[in-house]
Amino acid sequence: KLRAFALLGLTAIVLSACGKENLTALDPKGYGADQSLYLIILTTVIMLFVLAIVMIVYTIVLIRYRKKKGQEDFIPKQVEGNKTLETVWTIIPIILLLIIAVPTITATFDLADESAASDSLNVEVTGNQYWWHFNYEGQEIQTSQDLYVPVGERVYLNMMSSDVIHSFWVPTIAGKMDVNPENENTMYIEAQEEGVYWGKCAEFCGPSHSLMDFKVIAVSQEEFDQWVEDMQNVDPEAEPESTVAQEGQSLFQENNCMSCHAIGSSPAQIGPNLTNFGDRSTLAGVEDMTKENLVQWIMDPESMKPGNKMTGNYPEVSEDDAGKIAEYLMQLEPSEITPESAGTE
Ligand code: CUA
Repeated sequence: KLRAFALLGLTAIVLSACGKENLTALDPKGYGADQSLYLIILTTVIMLFVLAIVMIVYTIVLIRYRKKKGQEDFIPKQVEGNKTLETVWTIIPIILLLIIAVPTITATFDLADESAASDSLNVEVTGNQYWWHFNYEGQEIQTSQDLYVPVGERVYLNMMSSDVIHSFWVPTIAGKMDVNPENENTMYIEAQEEGVYWGKCAEFCGPSHSLMDFKVIAVSQEEFDQWVEDMQNVDPEAEPESTVAQEGQSLFQENNCMSCHAIGSSPAQIGPNLTNFGDRSTLAGVEDMTKENLVQWIMDPESMKPGNKMTGNYPEVSEDDAGKIAEYLMQLEPSEITPESAGTE
């Protein structure tokens, strides 16, 4: 128990010290996270109580029954069995376990509740090595990495993996749910405040597991409606304004990038959907969205995200061409509603 507690303390320190904005289970901003924190506190208090009792009894026995001077050959009274004592130390743990189990099981079923209202927002989430795909059901919106949601509303997620087991975890607003290749798991998330909530894959899934980050972007209902409209009005073939970006667009097509990626509501998803790529604040999960980083990504994705499916799957491009493609991708900014505009964080 001591070890478990030390581990819990260490985890809390690690989580609170994380540089990522909004990546903590200890400062909940959502319904699921509230439930999680309540359970964390409840179990910690009970564990501390058990630890205290055990340590007190242990200390008393150590001092009181230590070997004393002149008693070297003394053999204490030998006791075998004690019905009362055994009953007490069986019943107390059962009660403690019930106090932990009942709220835990209740919360588990509550958070996996599938009884979504017919007009609620449903998003199909697909975990991939090493990125996330989001399909807004019935809305003709497909996107990756940034999950836009309206604040204060329950958003129902139907989750599956296209390859190995991942786990969807946005500690500040929700609990954690495994994302499996064979069966669909469901959960809902509900952000209570506007903001950008960092999410991580929480199941080891390969060499770039630790880079499989994503964001939940909670905005007001009006902003969300605006975002939906912006995303639905994207013309995947639209010609960029600058000539460099136009050249980038041609190179993007010539190099068959669209055989894996998609722009617009096409469901192709071997690689991330790029409809609003330029609106994202990060690239490859954790890198800043800069042209320099994007050029490096296009030329050598393996150096940024080992084991990703893009490595070696497209013709080599020169640095000059990569720069043009980067210009094209970075101007894919269909919406004014971006992570930077969401809330204060
Ligand atoms: Cu996906 Cu770890």
